[in-house]
Amino acid sequence: MCLGVFVTNDQRPDRTACDLVPIAWDEVAGAVRLLDQTALPGRADQRLVRSTADLVQAIAELAVRGAPSLGIAGALGVVVAVDEAAREGWDEARRDAAIDAVRGARPTAVNLAWGVDQVRPLLGQGRDAVLAAALALTEDNLAANRELSRRAADWLLERIDRPRLRAITHCNAGALATAGWGTALGVLRDLHERGRLELVYADETRPLLQGARLTAYELAALGIPHVVQVDSAASSTILRGLVDFAVVGADRIAANGDTANKVGTLGLALACDAAGIPLVVAAPWSTVDLSTADGSGIVVEQRGSQEILQWAGERTAPEGTQGFNPAFDVTPSRWVSVIATERGVVEPAHGTTPRDLA
Ligand code: MRU
Repeated sequence: MCLGVFVTNDQRPDRTACDLVPIAWDEVAGAVRLLDQTALPGRADQRLVRSTADLVQAIAELAVRGAPSLGIAGALGVVVAVDEAAREGWDEARRDAAIDAVRGARPTAVNLAWGVDQVRPLLGQGRDAVLAAALALTEDNLAANRELSRRAADWLLERIDRPRLRAITHCNAGALATAGWGTALGVLRDLHERGRLELVYADETRPLLQGARLTAYELAALGIPHVVQVDSAASSTILRGLVDFAVVGADRIAANGDTANKVGTLGLALACDAAGIPLVVAAPWSTVDLSTADGSGIVVEQRGSQEILQWAGERTAPEGTQGFNPAFDVTPSRWVSVIATERGVVEPAHGTTPRDLA
């Protein structure tokens, strides 16, 4: 089954109808085209983004989200700023401030700043050089995701002696969070294509439900057997022996392997450790931040209370109650069994770190 709802003019042969494309450059419109992830799965709305202010808002609202997608948003944001500066008659300082605003729109996923930094040095070569570099990052991410997925799947199949594996995942690290294919969900796709995947438990991922809304949507489109569970079921699912491994994406991986990902990942890691099953982190090399020595240097985004104090627009907590809404947590490397990147795999729990791949 393939829902195939996202229309893309991308006709490359390695694209399938199931490949959701969350962010692209629309040459005709001269704008960033986003699949609005706040409306999925009910509606597949698209947004055309022509200003840096709108891009910052789209990033803050999670219309575009997921670390690798944010990297592409950052890179394309530089093109948007250049076009906007030309249109509005901005000087360089104003343009650079707009680029900085995009770069800082969310703090935890290193890919956002990375995407900006990859293309910004090309400003002197002109707008088309910046655009070409941004589009090349998209291609690179797609290739990286396929490669890291293959490596992670190989790693798992070498260690888990079952005909078909049972997995748990958290948040959404699929095509919607990347340039395509996905990272954690890419690993699941790879296993599924090899006929080696039995069932996926997808955590619903409070408060914005990336698991229930987005991961389940992708898994359904791909025909991968899955169930959605509340986040608080995860540790029990793991300790009851219902899954063979956990696989998650990452927003930032420090040099020692400490890993920031959607809040709730740490709980999965602790349960996996207690159950003696692996926690797999699947991420492109662009998510590795060697300039951050360990997790203590990672800024965890705090989001607004309204995301957790209300449900469907109705207040659930008493008036006057404050919320505490960290969007991510940091899993110490001793609980990360393996980090799979396109460069290779390391096993932080056993002493190898991303530094070994540098
Ligand atoms: O707040 P979000 O939805 O941007 O958080 C996304 C995640 O935490 C993902 O798991 C992570 O970015 C990896 S995406 C391949």
